[in-house]
Amino acid sequence: MSVSLGDRSYNILIQAGLVNRCADRVHELGVRGKAAVVTDRHVGRHYLRPVLRELASCGVEAVPIVLPPGEQSKTLTTVKQVLDVLASHRFERSSFMFALGGGVVGDIAGFTAAIYQRGIPFVQIPTTLIAQSDSSVGGKTGVDHQLGKNLIGAFYQPREVWIDPLTLRTLPKREWIAGLAEVMKYGIIADEKFFSYLERHMPALLKREPALMTEAVKRSCEIKAEVVMADERESDRRRILNYGHTIGHALETLGGYRSLIHGEAVGIGMVQEADLASFLGICDRSVAERIRSVVRMAGLRDRMPVWPSTKIWRAMLHDKKVVGGQVIGVWPVAIGQVRIAPIDEPTFHRWYSEGRRDAVLSRGASKGGRPMPKSRSH
Ligand SMILES: NC(=O)c1ccc[n+]([C@@H]2O[C@H](COP(=O)([O-])OP(=O)(O)OC[C@H]3O[C@@H](n4cnc5c(N)ncnc54)[C@H](O)[C@@H]3O)[C@@H](O)[C@H]2O)c1
Ligand SMILES: [Zn+2]
Repeated sequence: MSVSLGDRSYNILIQAGLVNRCADRVHELGVRGKAAVVTDRHVGRHYLRPVLRELASCGVEAVPIVLPPGEQSKTLTTVKQVLDVLASHRFERSSFMFALGGGVVGDIAGFTAAIYQRGIPFVQIPTTLIAQSDSSVGGKTGVDHQLGKNLIGAFYQPREVWIDPLTLRTLPKREWIAGLAEVMKYGIIADEKFFSYLERHMPALLKREPALMTEAVKRSCEIKAEVVMADERESDRRRILNYGHTIGHALETLGGYRSLIHGEAVGIGMVQEADLASFLGICDRSVAERIRSVVRMAGLRDRMPVWPSTKIWRAMLHDKKVVGGQVIGVWPVAIGQVRIAPIDEPTFHRWYSEGRRDAVLSRGASKGGRPMPKSRSH
């Protein structure tokens, strides 16, 4: 599959077992001399050795850089450490950088590659579902600042993306399921057939059957690539990728990035934004219910944690998608089709309080004795 962006075009290769057999690609890309392989401790344990072996078999002198795992590593301090290694090994303009890991490693390595000597070639070898279906494609790189996530960064496209779906088998279960939320997102925003495929095959997907993992990653990448090609720098079309992320990001922020991991917040966000779309008359109730049901099938949470509606709105306002006090949302019209439209504060509060009233009513109507739900009915 290729992403056509003029002289920044590149291929995405999806192949089971690719990390163990990437020497051909190393050769084809013309990697020579020194190359850095940035990874984290968890990923390194499983996949660093084969990648180093393949590079060595092509006569490349590989320098491994193993970072502590997790979002805490996504800082300028880490970027400086990686730059120090590149400079002290006298990396040149033509030296390659490989990002072997999840979105955290990809974002750090990509950003470092973008700024070392004003840009060295880099290759993404994503190993999480989020990275394979989303972050490795599109060229957004960067790190966090203490005042905000992804505040520092650059658009910098990789030379190639090497996806080995088999690496997903060692991913912790929670990360796998959270990643499925992003995969479902592609069905909702662009492809009804893909969405029904996911509905039908959810049990096998949860078991991580190789053919299904490959298909899920492949279709997600195709849709992401298509959107990125139409809009590399996020003006309009690329906004549709933010479906589920307006409320999702607000919940992540309010939970201090601890209670929910990204994909889990997006799962709730997709259900709630669909509910809001049906409240606004943009889609039928059945669309919102279908989204809720597939999210539940995956074992993801669908209910909103209880936060005051004003707090959620304020957190939503901190997002980039705000124009004149209104939040620009992405709303499903039907499965496979979304619309971008603003929402204002009073409407948001009205939707939220109706959800709460429904929750109270349904509790009142039930035959008592059941514990109070910790979340609202939305
Ligand atoms: N650049 C973009 O367009 C973009 C898009 C989405 C997300 N992101 C960024 O991606 C980051 C999240 O990425 P993520 O969800 O991949 O998290 P991550 O990179 O932190 O990986 C999650 C955990 O899984 C481990 N891991 C990774 N691959 C593994 C494997 N195959 N086997 C076993 N363990 C493995 C990691 O060590 C880590 O502990 C965030 O920082 C987010 O901002 C960027
Ligand atoms: Zn996301």
